[in-house]
Amino acid sequence: MDIFSRWVQPLNQQTTELLHSEQSIEYEDFPCSVDVTGPLLYTLFKQRWQDVEIGHVVEGSVLELEFKQPPKIFLLYDGYLTVVSEGWHLHLCVEENLGGPLQKTPPELRQKRLIQRASLYRCLNERKEARSWGIQFWNGAGEKMMNLFLPNPFLGEGEDLLPERKPLLEKLSLYEELRQIYVLGEKPIPFNKNPLKRPYISVCRSSRCYPCRNWKPVYESLQNAVKEADIDVEVLSAGCLEVCKLGPVVFYSGDRDWYTRVTPKVARQIVLSHLVGKQPLVQHLYPAQGRQQESE
Ligand code: FES
Repeated sequence: MDIFSRWVQPLNQQTTELLHSEQSIEYEDFPCSVDVTGPLLYTLFKQRWQDVEIGHVVEGSVLELEFKQPPKIFLLYDGYLTVVSEGWHLHLCVEENLGGPLQKTPPELRQKRLIQRASLYRCLNERKEARSWGIQFWNGAGEKMMNLFLPNPFLGEGEDLLPERKPLLEKLSLYEELRQIYVLGEKPIPFNKNPLKRPYISVCRSSRCYPCRNWKPVYESLQNAVKEADIDVEVLSAGCLEVCKLGPVVFYSGDRDWYTRVTPKVARQIVLSHLVGKQPLVQHLYPAQGRQQESE
């Protein structure tokens, strides 16, 4: 297991993308391993959700989404970070997408889906004055993925443009802080562990998990058992865990194991045997023959 470091090693990589009318975007790259992007995204989506907008900017298309409330779900499953808000949700591949219990993702597709480049950026006008700030991700095909828009000192309530000479410069504090931590490596990452990698056990709540759609008693049993065992494992529910049969289906992120036909009693056994005793409950493991090699 990799040791988590609170200090980012600067890449010292700055590039400029020229736009039309002498406008440009200035990028400062930072490492895009999950131990860097995990704390960054946790900060932005869980702690500073009021200050960021999520979007996508390419020629001919712009998308901007904002949070009205804290995200309802913030979950890393099989390489994808899922963030669910009231009216929309996003998936972002921050770690290799290995595939489900039966179907593995081909190696080249894993690399294509994964964030391969991350930058803090400033958009500059024709006078080289910064006018917007954000974060850009690229995938393994070199395509622009998601954009995160950071607070803009030239915009007031309701995204109204402020009078040109009166920017609210204090709104740049988030950009400045992220730059110090993730681009320059001058301040430590504000976590002792990667918050995205906290182990969790999750039950699928989708009605497609035929024949048993009754996931709530399983969820409650997991919650009670984890609480009684006093272990640092989060109990969650998820949309789909890639089994879609023999429900209720449960997934333990610590060892990437799937369980099927999980009753409340079995849920308790999983917690005691696997999460506490480190012995998977083989009778309910899926696929039944046991674990498959991740690299298959
Ligand atoms: S719908 Fe439950 S695992 Fe897919």
